[in-house]
Amino acid sequence: MDENIESVLHEERVFPPPEDFVKKARITPERYKQLKQQADEDYEGFWAERAREEIDWETPFNITLDRSEAPHYHWFSDGRLNVSYNCLDRHLSERGDKTAIIFEGEPGDIQKYTYKELHAAVSQFANALKAQGIGKGDRVVIYMPMVPEAVIAMQACARVGAIHSVVFGGFSAEALKDRVNDAQAKMIITADGGHRGGRIIELKAAVDKAIEHGTPTVERVIVFERTKHGVAMSPERDITWAEAIADQPMECEPEWVDAEHPLFLLYTSGSTGKPKGIQHACGGYLLGAILTNKWVFDLQDEDVFWCTADVGWITGHTYTAYGPLAVGAAQVMYEGAPTVPDGGRFWKVCQDHGVSVFYTAPTAIRALMKLGDEIPKSYDLSKLRLLGSVGEPINPEAWMWYYRVIGQERCPITDTWWQTETGAHMIAPIPGAVPTKPGSCTLPLPGIMADVVDEHGEPIQDANHGGYLVIKEPWPSMLRTVWGNDERYRKTYWDMFDGRYYLSGDSARKDEDGYFWIMGRIDDVLNVSGHRLGTMEIESALVAHERVAEAAVVGRPHDVKGEAIVAYVILKEARPTGAAADEVAKTLRAWVAEEIGPIAKPDEIRFVEGLPKTRSGKIMRRLLRTIAKGETISSDTSTLENEEIIKQLQGKA
Ligand code: WT7
Repeated sequence: MDENIESVLHEERVFPPPEDFVKKARITPERYKQLKQQADEDYEGFWAERAREEIDWETPFNITLDRSEAPHYHWFSDGRLNVSYNCLDRHLSERGDKTAIIFEGEPGDIQKYTYKELHAAVSQFANALKAQGIGKGDRVVIYMPMVPEAVIAMQACARVGAIHSVVFGGFSAEALKDRVNDAQAKMIITADGGHRGGRIIELKAAVDKAIEHGTPTVERVIVFERTKHGVAMSPERDITWAEAIADQPMECEPEWVDAEHPLFLLYTSGSTGKPKGIQHACGGYLLGAILTNKWVFDLQDEDVFWCTADVGWITGHTYTAYGPLAVGAAQVMYEGAPTVPDGGRFWKVCQDHGVSVFYTAPTAIRALMKLGDEIPKSYDLSKLRLLGSVGEPINPEAWMWYYRVIGQERCPITDTWWQTETGAHMIAPIPGAVPTKPGSCTLPLPGIMADVVDEHGEPIQDANHGGYLVIKEPWPSMLRTVWGNDERYRKTYWDMFDGRYYLSGDSARKDEDGYFWIMGRIDDVLNVSGHRLGTMEIESALVAHERVAEAAVVGRPHDVKGEAIVAYVILKEARPTGAAADEVAKTLRAWVAEEIGPIAKPDEIRFVEGLPKTRSGKIMRRLLRTIAKGETISSDTSTLENEEIIKQLQGKA
């Protein structure tokens, strides 16, 4: 077992659910016990009952779980529904005038949508999509800033049965092109730009560049005018959002689809250079989104929810675009950076809009923690009643700061472990029922059969002993496949344990109370500021540069970002040193930003004349990780050409 599986944390504090919270919680300790028991005794019956309670079906299902094509599991497969109907139409009679979205732009502009208004906007845009030839099964790429129109576009795709693939606005034109081509998208929905960090993100320009570099399937580009700073339009191909919806009616009958119909693709990094299109299905995904917004976030009619993630990530799908709407909640959407105009922006947004349930990432918590307690203390955060964390393990110090300074020791913290692939929370405390421990994501949700096993798939019995985090039964919101690549799906997630268990790619340990502690990835995947990046992906980008011969990328712990990216690079020319090295490093960092996006820029580039490799030619990443951390090398380095290389790798020569 890898060295990173050694457990290092010794956290003993326990925080039981506050009494006041339990009194009003959707899931009380009794209800929690019932749900767990039912899931353990009658797995399929449990899920069937949840799916009947929570979803409005056009055609009810009879088949709960079809295992005949395992590991491609099918859920509720003879049922028919529409996800957009479940997020909007079904609320109109009771909550039509309730606020659905409170949007705040980075410049400070505010816009609100009631459920009625959102329903009208989605229906109208759905009609626009149809008028542009988009229908059931067509792929549509959405490359947008964090504005309500991004959600409207996603919901409109769902309404007409089209499959969206949202590409994070921070990805480059090249990354966009690859994703458009892999999905063979017919349309791109974008904006002229978005406001972020006090600047304009040039989204339309990136779309133009992607298309210029070859996206043969794209027929139409719809451009939402957010920044209105004037962008080039190609008259035959591009139309503005306003033109697209002009004269379109605000009623649109939803396209009823099978529960297994794909709802969306979302590309994520793995251990090869090529991102994979994680494919989710309408019925099961919707159920996961609804249940976790109710169970884990306890969303109730009076709540104002805010998930700070971008819709370009799975978090923004399940906890902005779909889940909160499906449960009829009011939510905040914020366009910009947490530090504009200053480090108080998040807390000001919470104060101004009365946020009661707040969900963010440890990297943001750590960054804001560094600014001190005074900033959050100068805002009224008294409406907050629950705090969430996602994306990477939250270190106990950040957890305690979040608890003490933001939650004022009143709000439970729910640390939610899940993945793009799982669609929804998997291991997380249900706040009114499960005591929390700083740094632990606590216990699997009812119906989620998570465990920690050894390399033979045997459950690890000893407390605090690390192993592979697996899921032992299929669950409704699981991915269905990797788009266009069933083999990669099976190989990545199922082959290690002969199809018996889903392999998460994370290592974990369970403590004496059965609480889960996530220890990190076991594959070549980095977690930088809560964003998943494949080391191979960054290496491929580096070697694509004309001056680079070879590259190896590893992560190194970073106190704010979680992990920092360190690249070891061999150039085709002589190894540069000093100012010359800084100059090439600058060029290569800019290059990676172009190839993938600014989030993938290496924090450090070390130029070397050789890389440590095994006899079979595999890069010895573990050794590189040790070196990047500045630790002493204990493993065998006899295969290395000379001592000089080690010094170069260490950045000492
Ligand atoms: C990977 C999934 C799921 C939304 C955000 C990231 C890590 C996620 C936690 C957590 C420890 C976590 C895991 C996981 N991760 N949440 N609460 N504690 N680690 O989605 O890009 O699919 O990444 O993020 O390593 O495998 P993603």
